Amino acid sequence: MPKRWLRERERDPYYRQAKKEGYRSRATFKLLQAVKKYRFMKKGDVVVDLGAAPGGWMQAARSIVGEGGYVLGVDIKEIIPLEQPNVKAIEANMMDPRVLDQIMKNLPRKPNVLLSDASPNISGVWDVDHARQIDLAETALEMAIKILRPNGNFFVKVFHGDLLNSFVKKVKSPFKFVKIVKPKVSKSKSSEIYVLAKSFITE
Ligand SMILES: C[S@@+](CC[C@H](N)C(=O)[O-])C[C@H]1O[C@@H](n2cnc3c(N)ncnc32)[C@H](O)[C@@H]1O
Repeated sequence: MPKRWLRERERDPYYRQAKKEGYRSRATFKLLQAVKKYRFMKKGDVVVDLGAAPGGWMQAARSIVGEGGYVLGVDIKEIIPLEQPNVKAIEANMMDPRVLDQIMKNLPRKPNVLLSDASPNISGVWDVDHARQIDLAETALEMAIKILRPNGNFFVKVFHGDLLNSFVKKVKSPFKFVKIVKPKVSKSKSSEIYVLAKSFITE
């Protein structure tokens, strides 16, 4: 890893806090801050987390849903198991149509919340990375529409860019409330933002 990047990481207060509190990623605080402000996850919820490795959001979600809830993480990379019995992980590609079946087989009931912090490998070519990110976000949205319980919530990472508006429009039709969120933890120079959609409407 480049020395400058390592130095910056060591100076980052959220990286240091995550290490101190035993969280697997600084991203953990993005979810905790967003839930604290917008209240889209609660005790007892069943949560699916797409693009979940190394598992920081799974840890955050478990701390919110408690013993009566359930958290399922999905990633192409292996996720080192968490110690609690109601937190599970599947190693799978979320773009694979068979993953939906795998997810449903591993859940105790339909989820209340679907999260996606999935990111493509960054190529450095802006349009390409934006389009890949939107592809992942659209797949997450399709999944949310198929599996969420009525009134369920959806929280997904996107990058700023040309395709964002049409994505947000798609999110608006099956949810009562949609908002663009930039948690304080997200670095200001990063183009990453999150789309929060609350109260899933089923026909
Ligand atoms: C920013 S990391 C997630 C960090 C996580 N929220 C945490 O707090 O630990 C993004 C993840 O998306 C995963 N990812 C990217 N494309 C994926 C795909 N097609 N299927 C499943 N996971 C994917 C990557 O492997 C990576 O682990």
